[in-house]
Amino acid sequence: MMNIRDSLSVPILKYSLIGNGKPLILLHGFGLNRHIWDPICGLLQKQCQCISPDLRGQGESDVPEGIYTMKVMAEDILRLMDKLQLEKAFIAGHSMGGYVALSLAKDHPDRLDGIGLIASHARADTDEKRAGRIHDMEQVKLHGSVILAESLGPRLTKDANLVEAMKTIILSTDPKGIEMAGLGMAERQDCMEVLRNFHKPVLVVAGAEDMIVPLTASQEAAEAAPLGKLVVIPDTGHMPMLEAPNVLAEAFQHFI
Ligand code: MLT
Repeated sequence: MMNIRDSLSVPILKYSLIGNGKPLILLHGFGLNRHIWDPICGLLQKQCQCISPDLRGQGESDVPEGIYTMKVMAEDILRLMDKLQLEKAFIAGHSMGGYVALSLAKDHPDRLDGIGLIASHARADTDEKRAGRIHDMEQVKLHGSVILAESLGPRLTKDANLVEAMKTIILSTDPKGIEMAGLGMAERQDCMEVLRNFHKPVLVVAGAEDMIVPLTASQEAAEAAPLGKLVVIPDTGHMPMLEAPNVLAEAFQHFI
């Protein structure tokens, strides 16, 4: 039986669902929301059933208490799959969403047809990065989502209009959701061994100009996975789904 505390900690996730075909679950990155995938869902709707949730604490999903570890967010996605009666799906994650996909590859490979790491990678934070992240999350707690909008926004892409659009999304994200997801990322483990042991397709997509995830990190992730494939998109930063949607949609089409 579920007690009150348990029911409070299980958030309701807002999600979009469009199209018919193989289930493709698309997870957005840190401080963003499901709408970053809208162009991809539009392009793939004839081949795939595209499901894009807002992760807990982001977008229009509930903002529960506690740190949002990658495992906790992965369990939210499993619950969503159960609700939609999906035994398996291809799960692609953008940046932090990719860390969530890796957590599923570690603990629930049977529920996956494969994973996509879109501008993402499999390494844990270095000690320095972790300390910086924890400091930044203290600033978010004190001053709000504007801290992340100003620090992350300009590093997402060189396209000024897109930077403004992403800052608007981050500013609308609950600061508590940002803080808890940031602290969750700080706790995550190295997943290179997970990739080595995951014998299902792994699509790694990198923007050649990504200012957040270095190309070498994408390359090593694709090489570690026995069925890994790397697609590098030129003139593209951390947001390939919005900077180069046609190229990314084609990569998905070939892969899924
Ligand atoms: C993201 O875009 O999801 C984050 O920047 C990833 C990270 O900070 O590691």
